[in-house]
Amino acid sequence: MNRQTTHITQEQIAAQLAYCARLHAANTALDHTPLAMVDTYGCQQNEADSERLRGYLSQMGYGFTEDPFQADVIVINTCAIREHAEQRVLGNVGALTHSKRSNPGQIICLCGCMAQEEHVARKIKESYRQVDLLFGPHALWRFPELLWRVRTGGRRVFAQEEEPGSIAEGIPAVRQGGVKAWVSVMYGCNNFCSYCIVPYVRGRERSREPQAILDEIRALAAGGCRDITLLGQNVNSYGKDLSQPMSFAALLKQAAAIEGEFLLRFMTSHPKDASQELFETMAASEKIAPCLHLPFQSGNNRVLSAMNRRYTREKYLEQVRALRALMPDIVLTSDVIVGFPGETTEEFEDTLSLIEAVGFDALFTFIYSPRAGTPAAALPDPMGREEKLANFQRLVRRQDEISEAKHKAYIGRTLRCLVDGRDEHGLTGRTPGNRLVRLEGAEELIGRFIPVHITGANKWSLSGRPALEEGPEG
Ligand code: SAH
Ligand code: SF4
Ligand code: F3S
Repeated sequence: MNRQTTHITQEQIAAQLAYCARLHAANTALDHTPLAMVDTYGCQQNEADSERLRGYLSQMGYGFTEDPFQADVIVINTCAIREHAEQRVLGNVGALTHSKRSNPGQIICLCGCMAQEEHVARKIKESYRQVDLLFGPHALWRFPELLWRVRTGGRRVFAQEEEPGSIAEGIPAVRQGGVKAWVSVMYGCNNFCSYCIVPYVRGRERSREPQAILDEIRALAAGGCRDITLLGQNVNSYGKDLSQPMSFAALLKQAAAIEGEFLLRFMTSHPKDASQELFETMAASEKIAPCLHLPFQSGNNRVLSAMNRRYTREKYLEQVRALRALMPDIVLTSDVIVGFPGETTEEFEDTLSLIEAVGFDALFTFIYSPRAGTPAAALPDPMGREEKLANFQRLVRRQDEISEAKHKAYIGRTLRCLVDGRDEHGLTGRTPGNRLVRLEGAEELIGRFIPVHITGANKWSLSGRPALEEGPEG
């Protein structure tokens, strides 16, 4: 067992649920049902955390709203990955002075990754007086107690635990994903990519016990969940810290053996750790979705080394080849950073040639954003914003063409898709590889896997019609 991990006991969670009960009693005494608003930024890890914040709030007797003027409690679950994300949050927190003025009893809480940053906490303390409670990801399990202290103490509360990381089981969750759900298999990150803030705000890697994960998946599948994504910053290091170590591929195999009609996905895989065992496990099970998110960040070896990614362009391309040898139709997606400090336009050309060589189905593209306290933020960064932007736009344009061509190749095929919801254009679905499909059809199809005949495509999505009479190919 990883001695750096703080394991929160069942008694500690029970004590938090007792705070929920006290808050529930206080809320029942009010002349109205109090409402809470949870506003989530950032990645699915944060979405999963917000489900637990809602779980706690619901046990406290709060209903939910999306209108800050109706809310008695506002929880802002923040992301620190790029400057832009932080600015958006601070702008929105600034705007809450209006809702607080109209409802002085309103409690405003700021949590998540930004809240764990020292300089943010200082700024909130000094310049954002409307924030009553601030807590980082390590303190999330103590949210009921912290909220109780704000409600009864009449003072602002700042809880920024300095610890390598905790694991808490048994926090209730209110899930919002309908037929989709996220299951964290591990927390934190040990990789310290030189540009990235995550290891500083989320702590060291720690794995949940396989039994707890498998029980959660079993319950989700039994409850009608059809699309389950296993989460971790680098799922391939899952299990190394357990008292009985196990690989992520072994966990995945056990998860895929659970009964029920559902698909398993996972993210994220770090190319330095994605293994042949993982690829073989994916290829061997129909329950594991044929898609992989494998961020490469840069196609140039000098830049990869300066990013501390610990693989080369050649190793990355070799992994793609090995994967496609087993699963020729695999849907591949990736993340890439343009404008890392010191990256020349010549080095950027290697990123362009890598996307050409691989042919990703979709790419998440980011312009480098310096994060205080990370090694890359101290590197000389001579390239101007305009040149970075020009490179970024070249990359996006080329990827758009590749994505569109990939999508057009689906036209005429019939694929087994999960109908997962509806938006203003009609029903939405997902191909096994997680591409978005828009389709016509009745509401009753939501939550079902059905054959869909693909009739159209653009760079973002596919369109099609239910082909219930045909059955999917293969
Ligand atoms: N753990 C995942 C990534 C999580 S962050 C992994 O290693 O793949 C999601 C993406 O944000 C990263 O893949 C990276 O492309 C981007 N990112 C992280 N820090 C960034 C920064 N400082 N500036 C720009 N993009 C960044
Ligand atoms: Fe950040 Fe790297 Fe960890 Fe991903 S693997 S969260 S990019 S430090
Ligand atoms: Fe953002 Fe934290 Fe996720 S920094 S990307 S919310 S782990």
